[in-house]
Amino acid sequence: MKELYSVIGYPIGHSLSPHMQNAVLNHHSIDGYYHAFEIAPEKVEEGIKGLKALNIKGFNVTIPYKVKVMDFLDEIDELAREIGAVNTVVNENGRYVGYNTDGDGYLQSLLTFLERPSLQDQSVLILGAGGAARALLFTIAAKGQANCIDIANRTLSKAQELITSCPIDNEGTVLSITEAEENLGRYDIIINTTAVGMSPNVEESPLSLQHVKKGATVSDIIYNPLETKLLREAKERGALAHTGIGMFVMQGALAFEKWTGVQPDVKVMEDVVLRHLQKK
Ligand code: ATR
Repeated sequence: MKELYSVIGYPIGHSLSPHMQNAVLNHHSIDGYYHAFEIAPEKVEEGIKGLKALNIKGFNVTIPYKVKVMDFLDEIDELAREIGAVNTVVNENGRYVGYNTDGDGYLQSLLTFLERPSLQDQSVLILGAGGAARALLFTIAAKGQANCIDIANRTLSKAQELITSCPIDNEGTVLSITEAEENLGRYDIIINTTAVGMSPNVEESPLSLQHVKKGATVSDIIYNPLETKLLREAKERGALAHTGIGMFVMQGALAFEKWTGVQPDVKVMEDVVLRHLQKK
């Protein structure tokens, strides 16, 4: 019988996960089907119970349920607990276990892009202090071996809270957006985790790159558009541009591997996503 996988969120119609996951299930001849379920906020608990009743093998969780879902799981992995959000749930012999593959997916994508095994000797600046910044900061602090990870945010107190709550001390400091712009030359890697520049607001950018170092890497977790205004400016100034598609693909690939035990062909996944983004 076909195994069931899914993504839950609200709204969910825009999700590219079903295209990506069904293509790779097919590619590896796994008899499964991945479906997007839109669950209204007042029905979340019932919805998750329903998925469990169907003995679902695994599901992804997206906005706005990455925190809420934690109330309905049997176990939560340590990194996901620290991050405070779950994007992947795995049926482990009838027990539903929550993981967060966003941070790991991002880090793997970045390291592949940089062709390096770690971020050793690299100074990192994260823009933003929301949920995405939290997943990236905690994962990079735990596994990236960066020199330092600083946070720039519009609301300084939120950046400070984020740094203070990081379980691994990385001696990072907090900057305003203006301070970040002025001191940009210090950083080897600059990561935008805010939604500034995301479609349809494609003419917006979270900060000016006037002082970016040549050869630095500017990374955006946005993948629609693939090349944000920030990344366009990065290229114009001689920096390298790392797009958000890799994080999206890798978070899905890590989920797929947890569900099926099969290491997926990420090229197949990326091609499907690219094809759908180009159609939009
Ligand atoms: P997510 O879970 O996707 O990270 P979030 O938790 O709402 O989303 O966080 C959004 C982040 O983007 C925040 O850091 C926010 O800055 P504030 O803490 O000052 O609110 C940042 N952000 C959103 N819109 C912004 C804008 N127009 N300019 C600058 N920063 C913005």
